[in-house]
Amino acid sequence: MSKNILVTGGAGYIGSHTVAELAAAGYAPVILDNLSNSHVSVIDNLRALTGQELPFFELDCTDPKALNEVFVTAGPIAGVIHFAADKAVGESVSDPLKYYRNNLGSLITLLETMRAHDCADIVFSSSCTVYGQPETLPVTEETPRKEAESPYGNTKKICEDILMDHVKSQAPIKCVALRYFNPIGAHPSALIGELPLGIPNNLVPFVTQTAAGIREQLTVFGNDYNTPDGTCIRDYIHVVDLATAHIRALQYLDNQDTGNFFDVFNVGTGQGNSVFEIIKAFEAATGMTLKHKIGPRRKGDIEKIFANVDKSAKLLDWSTTRSLSDALKSAWEWQKALGAREKRGE
Ligand code: NAD
Ligand code: UFG
Repeated sequence: MSKNILVTGGAGYIGSHTVAELAAAGYAPVILDNLSNSHVSVIDNLRALTGQELPFFELDCTDPKALNEVFVTAGPIAGVIHFAADKAVGESVSDPLKYYRNNLGSLITLLETMRAHDCADIVFSSSCTVYGQPETLPVTEETPRKEAESPYGNTKKICEDILMDHVKSQAPIKCVALRYFNPIGAHPSALIGELPLGIPNNLVPFVTQTAAGIREQLTVFGNDYNTPDGTCIRDYIHVVDLATAHIRALQYLDNQDTGNFFDVFNVGTGQGNSVFEIIKAFEAATGMTLKHKIGPRRKGDIEKIFANVDKSAKLLDWSTTRSLSDALKSAWEWQKALGAREKRGE
């Protein structure tokens, strides 16, 4: 029988792609989301994509009673992938309490509920933001974490600490924290993708909306960084490759029989690309011309970061298979599909 895997935040960008990969790998995903940053249509699209019923619980992960009900009614939960969190860096500066309440509260409530139901395995969504601006590149999992640049980043650091402390307790708990680099792109079906609300903060949604004529032009935030072309460098990973890392993490947890443990993995491509390189790669992949101008630096931006992914390759037997061009093409296909849906009034 398929194993039930609870996916908190399963209607969100990375969560929905992970649900699709879980279903394809023979797991039975159970989706939980309060739809605070996602749309219920994602669930219908996931059902169409997977051909599965996919149980969906619309509730808040900080609500212990509601969460308990899921564990009681959904059947035995073999493991949890915990995406549910708020993620807007800027908003976390203006409303830090919202971030501490939601991101810490949802993890703590989840861990207490898992303990009550003897559910041990958890994969946690962490972020390369915990490294700040590292002294040496690429970053390995041994690279020291830095003081967080934002309350959002701090919640990821504290959540890792909570998990590390919890594994030292008597409660059965096995945890893998995945430190994501920059996820981009969409599912090849164009049925699911990133749904940014309002003006996108992130580069690739801004690029695709500019190409679609929704935004007038892209502003490149600074071209005077100490990088080959002066623009910031990131490790952009196709969201489907990122999703598959969660399947490998679940398998890795399942293979550990040594009792409680915590482990952490970088999930990136191992390759850094500048903002200018992303613009050029988008134009090459889609045949579009992207209107852009140079603007001032964005406060809080890291100059350059990219991952060393040797540990993930060795222990999770995972690596990326999709190129930057694949990712940018899929982001553009998703943007066009969104536009077509809007025109049909869906
Ligand atoms: P997202 O906002 O698309 O998905 C998060 C989902 O969680 C949303 O559907 C939202 O409605 C839901 N949610 C939030 N709080 C909830 C709560 N209390 N109860 C139930 N549902 C709740 O974000 P995403 O990009 O898919 O990110 C998923 C996870 O990965 C987050 O933890 C995020 O911090 C982390 N992460 C994201 C990135 C990135 O660049 N996207 C990078 C590093 C880490
Ligand atoms: N950028 C622009 N113009 C834009 C948007 C972005 O030039 O309109 C540049 C940024 O300055 C940066 C690069 O594009 O150099 C990437 O920016 P993103 O906002 O797409 O991504 P970040 O690396 O800043 O942040 C992302 C997530 C955070 C997370 C962080 C590390 O948004 O939530 O990765 O995981 F904390």
